[in-house]
Amino acid sequence: MNEDMRYLTFALGKGRLAKNTLALLEEIGITCEEMKDKDSRKLIFVNEELKLKFFLSKGPDVPTYVEYGAADIGVVGKDTLLEEGKRAYEVLDLGFGKCRMCVCGPESAKELLQHHEMIRVASKYPKIAKDYFYNKKHQTVDIIKLNGSVELGPIVGLSDVIVDIVETGSTLKENGLEVLEEICPISARMIVNQVSMKMEAERIKKLIGQLKERLS
Ligand code: PRP
Repeated sequence: MNEDMRYLTFALGKGRLAKNTLALLEEIGITCEEMKDKDSRKLIFVNEELKLKFFLSKGPDVPTYVEYGAADIGVVGKDTLLEEGKRAYEVLDLGFGKCRMCVCGPESAKELLQHHEMIRVASKYPKIAKDYFYNKKHQTVDIIKLNGSVELGPIVGLSDVIVDIVETGSTLKENGLEVLEEICPISARMIVNQVSMKMEAERIKKLIGQLKERLS
C-alpha cells in the first residue's frame, strides 16, 4: 500500500443501513475491526491498511457530509436523498433497506385524493410530499412537517393523510391505515462526492465495480 495514499472516508447512516453496508463491504474484503466493538463511543474508525475511514452519522446528514467533501462516499436511503436534495453522484443501488414511499391514510381518505381537494398532509418528508402533490398530482395541499410517528396524523385529526415510508405495512395495519397511493420505491444508495469521483477515480471505480459484481 502506498504510504502517501490519502484516506477515503465513508459516511454511513447509523443503524441498519450501516450494519448492512459493513456486511456487504466485508464480502468484498473490506473490514473495519474497530467498528465491531459495540461498547465503543468512538465516532470514527480507521482501517490503516486499506487507508479507509468510516464514520456513523444521522441518516439525513450523510448527503451533507458527502456534498461538502467531509466524506468521499456515503450510504443513505433514497428517501433521504430525495428529501435533502444535495449534490453528489448517486452511483449504486445497494439493494437493501427496501421500502416504498407512499401516501397513506384511512380508507375514507381515498376520495380526497381524487378531486384536487385542499387537504392536510403530515410527513417527515415535506419536500417529497410537496413535489408529489404539486408537481405530479397538481393538487394544492397543506403540508405539515412531523419528526416521526407520522401515522398519528390522521388518527388524532392533525391531517387527512400522511406521506411516509412503508416497509412491512404493519405500522399502518395496526393503526387502521392503509396505502392509498404509491410514490416511489426506496432502497439504500451509495453516493460519491463530485470532486472525489475525479481525484480518487481509480480507487472509487474499483470499489463500485467490486460491489456491482457482488450484488449482481
Ligand atoms: C418507519 C416509518 C413507518 C414504519 C414503517 O418509522 O416512518 O412508521 O417505519 O415500517 P412498517 O411498514 O414495517 O411498519 P420508524 O420506525 O423509522 O420510526 P418513526 O415513526 O419515528 O419515523
